[in-house]
Amino acid sequence: MIFREDGKIRDIIRRLSACGELKRQDFFLLMGDISPEEEQTLFQAARACSAERFGRKIYLRGLIEISNICKNNCYYCGIRRGNKEAERYRMSREEILACCCNGYRLGFRTFVLQGGEDPLQDDPWVEDTVAAIRERYPGCAVTLSLGEKSRESYKRFRRAGADRYLLRHETADPRHYRQLHPPEMSLENRMRCLRDLKELGYQTGTGMMIGSPGQTLETLWEDLEFIRRLRPEMIGIGPYLVHHGTPFADQKNGSLTWTLRLLSVLRLLYPDVLLPATTALSTLHPEGRKLGILAGANVVMPNLGMPGQREKYELYDHKLCAGQEAAEGRKELENMMGQIGYTLSESRGDFQEHSPRCRKEE
Ligand code: 5AD
Repeated sequence: MIFREDGKIRDIIRRLSACGELKRQDFFLLMGDISPEEEQTLFQAARACSAERFGRKIYLRGLIEISNICKNNCYYCGIRRGNKEAERYRMSREEILACCCNGYRLGFRTFVLQGGEDPLQDDPWVEDTVAAIRERYPGCAVTLSLGEKSRESYKRFRRAGADRYLLRHETADPRHYRQLHPPEMSLENRMRCLRDLKELGYQTGTGMMIGSPGQTLETLWEDLEFIRRLRPEMIGIGPYLVHHGTPFADQKNGSLTWTLRLLSVLRLLYPDVLLPATTALSTLHPEGRKLGILAGANVVMPNLGMPGQREKYELYDHKLCAGQEAAEGRKELENMMGQIGYTLSESRGDFQEHSPRCRKEE
């Protein structure tokens, strides 16, 4: 069955680890039919790279999902405007601050405010909210993930004290982008946003779902090319998961294997990058988070939202928000980490660029 010359995959992994080299054909091979041993070699290399750079410490972010009201209608997303079944909520500033207070006590030093594109949480509101968090918790980082805004808005949020911004590009292939989004949205604007964020000095996160409808190895390669050009500080990837209230209700979930292999590839390409083991990964597989870390992830983002409300931020079916996925589940999370020899870091966990590439090929 296997016609590949022996050792070819191992050579690819070796070159990738040693100097971050990955050719298109090699990427296709790595994502294809490799043996379980070869796959383990890939995970192991990524894990070693992570450990060398971050010392088996995992950064912690408290995720506060501040509104599930969204003016957009992305075909994959459970909180899309067109999903009339979704029970909508919007948090007040006081509620958000109460979550931060709780998070601070639990040891969180980064607060991530994520939400749909909710027109009522307008620029002045976001600015004042960011400023209030920064004032109360001067040692903490504020990350925003509020979608596409004007450069001017991003500038204002930055001035108010936001340090980081997460905005996945979702796909770098224009045709694929059209398959995932309604005509009023555009890949050009997404990319404009990401460029603006970088230029304004945000630690910027981008990324894509793995296994979204219409995605192929070719589009994933385009994603890698886009990431290479953008040079984000953070990369969020997780499996695409079906939501029953979307036009993609009868599509398939993304695969665990591809997600884990891509985590490893990204880690080896970008040893310094902040790479979360996402909630979607945990939702797809009961050990997802652990497997993500063992494939090279170095960030976890437990849910710091309000119990009773956080269930409503349903991007996909069965999205987890309890146990290890919840801020209160920190002990449980720590135990899991302990089992695999990792600890949680209590630092802000900012991106830090290390000297060029640590292990250049001789
Ligand atoms: N499955 C997995 N991830 C999803 N997202 C949105 N909908 C889904 C889904 N059905 C991701 C998108 C978005 C992030 C906040 O959540 O990539 O950028």
